[in-house]
Amino acid sequence: MKKTILVTGGTGFIGSHTTVELQNAGYNVVIIDNLSNSKADVVDGIEKITGIRPAFEQVDCCDLEALEGVFNKYPEITGIIHFAASKAVGESVQKPLKYYENNLLSLINLLKLMPKHDVKGIIFSSSCTVYGQPDPENLPVTEQAPIKKAESPYGNTKQINEEIIQDFVHSGANISAIILRYFNPIGSHPSGIIGEMPNGVPANLIPYLTQTAIGIRPCLKVFGDDYDTPDGSCIRDYIYVLDLAKAHVAAMARIVEGKNTDPVEIYNVGTGNGVSVLELIHTFEKCTGVKLNYEIAPRREGDIEKVWGNVDKANKVLGWKAVHTLEEALSSAWNWQQKLRERGVM
Ligand code: UFG
Repeated sequence: MKKTILVTGGTGFIGSHTTVELQNAGYNVVIIDNLSNSKADVVDGIEKITGIRPAFEQVDCCDLEALEGVFNKYPEITGIIHFAASKAVGESVQKPLKYYENNLLSLINLLKLMPKHDVKGIIFSSSCTVYGQPDPENLPVTEQAPIKKAESPYGNTKQINEEIIQDFVHSGANISAIILRYFNPIGSHPSGIIGEMPNGVPANLIPYLTQTAIGIRPCLKVFGDDYDTPDGSCIRDYIYVLDLAKAHVAAMARIVEGKNTDPVEIYNVGTGNGVSVLELIHTFEKCTGVKLNYEIAPRREGDIEKVWGNVDKANKVLGWKAVHTLEEALSSAWNWQQKLRERGVM
């Protein structure tokens, strides 16, 4: 029988791509999303790509009663992938309580309901932000690297949620959890039907870059060229969202097949390669043929100088590996931006 997975935040950027990959792998998907940062028509897009319409419920995970209604309606749910969260680092500094309330309560509510509704496992979206700036000898960073004090309330919610999961599972709750620490997810589905949809002026590099390339923004600011890196710009581990989505499928299979050896397992999900902002810009120009207007600007407060992941554990234990190139990821992001223009969205 097909397993049914609840995907919270399933109409969002990573959630929608993961829903596609779960369906491709033979899972049924129930999406819940409060649509605070995404649109219901993403469900149509998912159906267009896979030919299967996922169930969709407009529910906020912070609403315990409504959430329980979903478990009552779909008693076949065996696993959860929890994406639903507020994710803007800058906004979290301005509105910390919104971030603590949303991001902590939604996880707590899910955990509360899991044993009662016989849900085996949960996959939690965490972030390499928990490592802060790793010491140079710890790069590429492994899962054992020390957790550093969070730079923002957003980052802190990731750390606290990891601890909540550990404490709950170790209290004897009969559930398993896999924590995935993402590096920098980029790109969009190659069909151009679903993709990253930032609200307002993008804070992240790729949407800002593609919006500049298409003429919505006049110029991309490169935040700093005086860092201790080969070209002076910051280094990140950019992972194509399709690869990231597949990591969730591998993690979910491990849980539903009961193959996890620890009740809480943690994996880095990245490519293992560090790429600088300037390298990324030049790769974009090369693979799309578009000349990008950019300038060097002062450093952005709170930025990490360099971080990229050691992903051996995910490669070996999950049997998962990022296979797409940076060129493919950037071309897909550009394709998506052009599709948005064709559709008159922006
Ligand atoms: N950058 C620019 N110009 C821009 C935007 C970004 O030069 O207009 C640079 C940044 O300085 C950084 C790199 O591009 O060096 C990537 O920046 P992003 O904002 O895209 O991503 P971050 O690495 O800062 O943060 C991301 C997510 C966070 C998450 C973090 C670690 O946005 O939610 O990765 O996982 F916490």
